[in-house]
Amino acid sequence: MATLAAVSSLIFLCLSLLPYYSSAANITLGSSLSATNNNSSWLSPSGEFAFGFRQLNNSDLFLLAIWFNKIPQRTIVWHANGDNPAPRGSTLELTTNGLVLNNPGGRMVWYASPSPATIAVTKAALLDTGNFVLTGNGSNFVWESFKNPTDTILPDQTLDLGSMLFSKLTETNFSKGRFELHFDNGSVQLNPVAWPSRSLYNWYYSSETSSINSSESGNKFVFNASGNIYIVKTNGETAQLFPWVTITPRVDLYYRATLDSDGVFTQYAFLKNSPTNQSWWALRILPGNMCTAIFSDIGSGPCGFNSYCSIQNGRPSCDCPPGFVFVDPNNRFMGCRPNFRQGCGGDDDSRDLGELYEIREFNNVDWPLGDYEKLQPYNQKDCEQSCIYDCSCAVAIYDGTRCWKKRLPLSNGRYRDTGFSKVLFKVRKGDSFSDFGDNSGSRRGRPILLGALLLGGSVFFNVVLLVAVSIVVCVWHHKKEAGNNVQDSSISDTNMRCFNYKELEEATDAFKEELGRGSFGIVYKGVLRSGSRNAIAVKKLDKLAQEREREFKTELSAIGRTHHKNLVQLHGFCDEGVHRVLVYEFMSNGTLANLLFAIPKPDWYLRVRISLEIAKGLVYLHEECNVPIIHCDIKPQNILLDQYLIAKISDFGLSKLLLSNQSRTRTMIRGTRGYVAPEWFKNVPVTAKVDVYSFGVMLLEIICCRRSVEMEFEDERRAILTDWVYDCYIEGRLDVLVDNEEAATADVDRLHKWLMIAIWCIQEDPSDRPAMKMVMQMLEGFLDVPQPPCPSSFRVSVEY
Ligand SMILES: *[C@@H]1O[C@H](CO)[C@@H](O)[C@H](O)[C@H]1NC(C)=O
Ligand SMILES: *[C@@H]1O[C@H](CO)[C@@H](O)[C@H](O)[C@H]1NC(C)=O
Ligand SMILES: *[C@@H]1O[C@H](CO)[C@@H](O)[C@H](O)[C@H]1NC(C)=O
Ligand SMILES: *[C@@H]1O[C@H](CO)[C@@H](O)[C@H](O)[C@H]1NC(C)=O
Ligand SMILES: *[C@@H]1O[C@H](CO)[C@@H](O)[C@H](O)[C@H]1NC(C)=O
Ligand SMILES: *[C@@H]1O[C@H](CO)[C@@H](O)[C@H](O)[C@H]1NC(C)=O
Ligand SMILES: *[C@@H]1O[C@H](CO)[C@@H](O)[C@H](O)[C@H]1NC(C)=O
Ligand SMILES: *[C@@H]1O[C@H](CO)[C@@H](O)[C@H](O)[C@H]1NC(C)=O
Ligand SMILES: *[C@@H]1O[C@H](CO)[C@@H](O)[C@H](O)[C@H]1NC(C)=O
Ligand SMILES: *[C@@H]1O[C@H](CO)[C@@H](O)[C@H](O)[C@H]1NC(C)=O
Repeated sequence: MATLAAVSSLIFLCLSLLPYYSSAANITLGSSLSATNNNSSWLSPSGEFAFGFRQLNNSDLFLLAIWFNKIPQRTIVWHANGDNPAPRGSTLELTTNGLVLNNPGGRMVWYASPSPATIAVTKAALLDTGNFVLTGNGSNFVWESFKNPTDTILPDQTLDLGSMLFSKLTETNFSKGRFELHFDNGSVQLNPVAWPSRSLYNWYYSSETSSINSSESGNKFVFNASGNIYIVKTNGETAQLFPWVTITPRVDLYYRATLDSDGVFTQYAFLKNSPTNQSWWALRILPGNMCTAIFSDIGSGPCGFNSYCSIQNGRPSCDCPPGFVFVDPNNRFMGCRPNFRQGCGGDDDSRDLGELYEIREFNNVDWPLGDYEKLQPYNQKDCEQSCIYDCSCAVAIYDGTRCWKKRLPLSNGRYRDTGFSKVLFKVRKGDSFSDFGDNSGSRRGRPILLGALLLGGSVFFNVVLLVAVSIVVCVWHHKKEAGNNVQDSSISDTNMRCFNYKELEEATDAFKEELGRGSFGIVYKGVLRSGSRNAIAVKKLDKLAQEREREFKTELSAIGRTHHKNLVQLHGFCDEGVHRVLVYEFMSNGTLANLLFAIPKPDWYLRVRISLEIAKGLVYLHEECNVPIIHCDIKPQNILLDQYLIAKISDFGLSKLLLSNQSRTRTMIRGTRGYVAPEWFKNVPVTAKVDVYSFGVMLLEIICCRRSVEMEFEDERRAILTDWVYDCYIEGRLDVLVDNEEAATADVDRLHKWLMIAIWCIQEDPSDRPAMKMVMQMLEGFLDVPQPPCPSSFRVSVEY
């Protein structure tokens, strides 16, 4: 093994020193590569392509692949072991039996053997076309990556009858996905797969080039060297892939054609030597409209079950209807599930179904299949009632006289611009649901905006504590004092927009619709008229302390440079006269507090996901953004949920603006009762560990679905969540903490571990608390969690 590694590193050294040296083309028996870093590869003579290991998403898993090696994206065009990524330390070796990929334990992960198998392999080469070949004694190739394609074909590649391509599961997951291309029986066909089995459903595209007369039937599927793609029949005639338009191939372009993970077969091009235009663009796609191409009683359609498809820039995009959330938020093609209890009402009550459910209109979307009942003549009211009182009914379609009822799962959903029929959704009253806004033609079923950018009705500390706290200043670590003259340029290198006040006044209809109030000011809903009707949340800041005014932009630029999917994005600001306004993305599902303390309580796994998302956002604020930011006021009211219920932290980076040494008022105290760390009350510097403390408290709230302080409990220890949790934890009564919630008690390992993590976070001494990064790793299960000590002898007991 050691010699192999030595040989491979020697080869690698030669390659990296002389990347264009042509001898690179011939790979001799015994050569090997190991999965240790990205550079472990063999190059084609021109250096255009590389064959070797690619690290998957910064994990310890590696993919054996071929990629375009001269473009920044290093686009992968072939891969070997997508279903079975190789762990770090795996080796690939060229033997007389072929290419063999072994894991560090010596077990075979993948192999490529010569055909016929009796031939001994003598060498291998990566050709300049991107074809990796094995040769035997003769000049014929005994194995070619071009004959064993994955999701992509390249110029100069020809597929014989019986070939297939399979899509990836997602853009970053190379497992076999939900679509396949088959060149069988004379035609190129695209089929949905009954994932995760490999059973095929009916095709959604066919070149229709098969014929009973075999000489008129397709025989080769050709991507010719200059970049054209067509079918050649047995009699030599060519057939175009209808309705593809003909293109004029150019020599200054790279080409590839890929069956993408969304099921669209796309021919892409990339400018070879352009410093500016550095991305692939789609030249031609099949089918033209993916959303309507699949139409079948069985299977989900292009998007997963219960979702609907719309075309955006030619590609299908999947969304959930109101009341539904993505099964896997990282893969929107996996469908949606209802986020409310269904059927005949609650398990505990026998209330009238009309009280439990309501109908919401959700128009411009069609689920054309799967009706189980058709009632007529009916009026809309009867149609709605019929669905509400029918346990099986999830949706009714009403067209003026007819009422079709459907049950779940819904399939083949697609967006429609026009359509007379109304889609009537049955949702449970009071449950959280996504915004009806954008797709709803009629506003009858107008959504209740569950609030957004709420800062919560914070309760502030009493004056005694104020004095104690008044020395404490929330600091930005490593923050550089920027002079006035640099400020504007620091703003301009963020993507933030400078709005004028009039524009914001128009967008918010003169600050009409209030979303919430908090320590920084009032938040209003608005819609930007320009551009694509983006909903925004506009926060008018209260008067800033005098000496903070000139820091406004400096601070903003720090916030503007943060970019993370678990932070609410700041779009821009307005700094005009007395007006200081911040413009944020709009979060349609309100605050975590609304979700958490509602009845019924949100799903356990949704809460688990949200906890992880908040932790990620905090890790980013503390450790990953340019200027580390301490939030100082982490609580459920400051966590907002977008339309997919993805958690985003809001109001970060503002605490400094409100702190002033001269004029302290109540509202300038950062932190909210029940969430603040004990060091706020001591004369010690405040560090990022204050956020860890607040996160710990909030994690307990998320686990238990109750507020950190609940005065209605007589028992004082019960009233304070942190005390109560520690008591229950010591007594081993985890079931009490989650109120016997089924999903949580079934997930008892996580429950137990997360409680321990939360208790670590709320330790009195900041240095006992783990850093957010470590919290994250413990939550994800990468680090073991030791037994936590009792959090504190000191208790924040504040009277109102
Ligand atoms: C590589 O092998 C081919 C035959 O497969 C041979 O023609 C060529 O000369 C070899 N190139 C080098 C640089 O050894
Ligand atoms: C390896 O490449 C992947 C992308 O292909 C990248 O995400 C990763 O950071 C790279 N790792 C190293 C060590 O360069
Ligand atoms: C990989 O290649 C890059 C340059 O291409 C080099 O900077 C880096 O040190 C190499 N990494 C290893 C582990 O050899
Ligand atoms: C890639 O890694 C990031 C962070 O490590 C993670 O959030 C993301 O889900 C990963 N993606 C996939 C497809 O595994
Ligand atoms: C290669 O061919 C020669 C002559 O045809 C034969 O003697 C030799 O055994 C072959 N070697 C292999 C490895 O097949
Ligand atoms: C890809 O997705 C499959 C199915 O969800 C999953 O089992 C596998 O772990 C994923 N692979 C990677 C590398 O994330
Ligand atoms: C092949 O195509 C011909 C002509 O369209 C058709 O009649 C025949 O049933 C097909 N065979 C298979 C196995 O699909
Ligand atoms: C098949 O098609 C060829 C033309 O491509 C024609 O010459 C031949 O007669 C046809 N055979 C039959 C049986 O129709
Ligand atoms: C590729 O196909 C196009 C159109 O069929 C043709 O004009 C061109 O000459 C072909 N190029 C090569 C290299 O065969
Ligand atoms: C790159 O250039 C191509 C062709 O000139 C054009 O179609 C494409 O839109 C350009 N892409 C970008 C990002 O400018």
